[in-house]
Amino acid sequence: MKRRDFLAGAAALAACSPLPPGVARSVSRYGLAQHARRSGRHFGAAVKSRLLREDTAFRAAVARECDVVVQEYELKRGTTEPKQGKYDFSGADQIIDFAQDHGMRARGHALVWYAANPPWLEPALKSASGRERQRLMTSYIDMAMRRYAGRINEWDVVNEAVEPNQGRADGMRMDSMWMKALGEHYIDTAFHTARETDGRATLFLTDFGLEHDSPRCERRRTALLKLLDRLLGRGVPIDAVGIQGHLKPYKERFSERQFANFLRTLSGYGLKLSITEFDIADRGGPPSPEKRDREVASIAKAFLDVSLDNPAMGSILCWGLSDRYSWLSNFPEYKWPDGQLSRGLPLDARMGRKRLWDAIAAAFDAAPAVGRRSA
Ligand code: G3I
Repeated sequence: MKRRDFLAGAAALAACSPLPPGVARSVSRYGLAQHARRSGRHFGAAVKSRLLREDTAFRAAVARECDVVVQEYELKRGTTEPKQGKYDFSGADQIIDFAQDHGMRARGHALVWYAANPPWLEPALKSASGRERQRLMTSYIDMAMRRYAGRINEWDVVNEAVEPNQGRADGMRMDSMWMKALGEHYIDTAFHTARETDGRATLFLTDFGLEHDSPRCERRRTALLKLLDRLLGRGVPIDAVGIQGHLKPYKERFSERQFANFLRTLSGYGLKLSITEFDIADRGGPPSPEKRDREVASIAKAFLDVSLDNPAMGSILCWGLSDRYSWLSNFPEYKWPDGQLSRGLPLDARMGRKRLWDAIAAAFDAAPAVGRRSA
């Protein structure tokens, strides 16, 4: 998308900018979770146990703004089972203890993913027989879910299963050890195992690149919908879809109508929805942080208005809470060449509320209550 198109879009969106300049941020004594609760929803963030331990300002901000948390990396198998059968859930335990102490919900991310696995796992998969291969996957599902049963309410059971750029006609991800070892039915087995292990948990299929009006995202949406048709047709117990929500507005357009249609298709399956990793890559935006913040807030408001207009959308989680710790500032595609921090999260590096905070609060305030669509 050409920058001027985006700016035209942003200018139009700025007309509905969340709040007049200088209002709301300082006056609202409510956190974003309270704004979410007005329509029966939740707001949260991905966290690391080290930050909760060592950064008291960050810890206080999470307690103020969130009523749900998720582990940014500490419940991934590469961290929790570094050696086969040798578990280390210490980081995740601290995050879950924090959630329990603050009366928060918690998400589990992620049980089965093609990435962040321990080095011993893929060789073990390759050398194992059929049943043993399945057990190498289901044993971890069983271990993790039993440990947190009743304290983690929802799990990303399978994360990032599609990748049309890898050339399969069905758009499935080929660089997945699970797909190579077990074929697509690894997903069926994962969800059935998860359901049997903790029947109270909400089971999510999650993916990224579903948000923008671009050929890339259109291919990903198509692949995910086709996969859901097959899985639900086979009776796979999927309760919800997690749309990660990593936006890149300076590289790809956003169409409210297109995204609303996609969400309607998903909720039409009877699935719950969440935005599970919301943030906005601002690289490529105006050099002025103030101008960039306005544009980022406008695109966020447009995206969240559409998201929250769907009654199946139950929660919005950001991937981090403060620019001080965003993965965007270190990721090659998104980090600023001059080393400045990405400004894609609701709080700045000093835990101050930004225009993006206002936009999220305003979107929640305008959202029709869950169970009722807007006119
Ligand atoms: O904290 C340890 C440190 O003690 C150790 O010395 C170092 C050695 O490698 O690793 C550090 O852990 C790193 C961790 O981030 C904390 O910074 C891991 O190596 C690193 O792999 C991990 O990266 C995470 C990445 O997923 C892979 O798990 C990022 O924080 C996290 O933001 C990113 O999140 C993903 C979602 O899971 C899925 N959707 C995309 C999203 C962004 O890539």
